Amino acid sequence: MTVARTRYAGPITEARVHDHRLVEQGFATDEALAAMLERYPAGLFDINLYDYDEAGQVSLRTGARGRLGGADLLAAIQQGRLWVNLREVETGWPELWAAAMAEFGDVQARYPGLRAVRQSGQLILSSPRARVPYHFDAAGVVLFHLRGRKRVFVYPGDEAHLAETDMEQVVTRQTTEELPYRLAFEADAQIMDLEPGQALTWPLYAPHRVENLDRFCVSLSMDFQTWPSRFRNGALFTNAVLRRAGGRPRFTDRMSTPELAARWAASLALKRAGAMKSRIAGFERDFEPDAGAADGARALA
Ligand SMILES: [Fe+2]
Repeated sequence: MTVARTRYAGPITEARVHDHRLVEQGFATDEALAAMLERYPAGLFDINLYDYDEAGQVSLRTGARGRLGGADLLAAIQQGRLWVNLREVETGWPELWAAAMAEFGDVQARYPGLRAVRQSGQLILSSPRARVPYHFDAAGVVLFHLRGRKRVFVYPGDEAHLAETDMEQVVTRQTTEELPYRLAFEADAQIMDLEPGQALTWPLYAPHRVENLDRFCVSLSMDFQTWPSRFRNGALFTNAVLRRAGGRPRFTDRMSTPELAARWAASLALKRAGAMKSRIAGFERDFEPDAGAADGARALA
């Protein structure tokens, strides 16, 4: 039996590797990264430390930017067990962003019908043994890998691996992007090892997780919206509001485009009215990066 890799229409039907030229432009050297960390706006840092039990269930600690200079912060990431996400590369590092947008154009050109209407980027610096838990992004993604080696596991975007009720919780920011995960999912994974100079795409919404392969890793994750993904996200938002009010909305993959568009339009009004308040806006910070400390993390009192 052929397993559909996604239930969502779109020109990207499976995970696939493309080439890019960001490495030879010098964006991933220690010098460039230390200088970037030094000046990157503190409000755009997410620093996480993930722990896993034997069933693959994750627990998360979150870090504050702290006061380390760029070179020391880089050393803490290289020696520790940290996952550092620099949001809004489009504002935080415009030179990298311009180069990455040119590469994105090349990738998009290989998928007839793919039309991104908005992109944004996260630069991810992660420790040699860091792992990112099972999650999905409510967007398309091109993951430009710049340094180190990482193994990416991509799973089918069907109801068994990605329940719409869970998607609604993420789209309405009632929870972070993590999804319920079972070890049995591993039988369904498409597995790819990424080297510097390679970029990976996968179908819209496909759940995935990442394991670094014993090296400090640098990747630029560019997420993009298309009109279909906007409609879908809006429909998921509206469905979440209906469900909370006791409704039983149909799955969005059974809806026609006009129906999705109507629900997207409704979601704009619902958001303006503050229908679903985010529950993940403010959470406690547990640690600060520290090159000398275990896992590169010094506990905050
Ligand atoms: Fe992701």
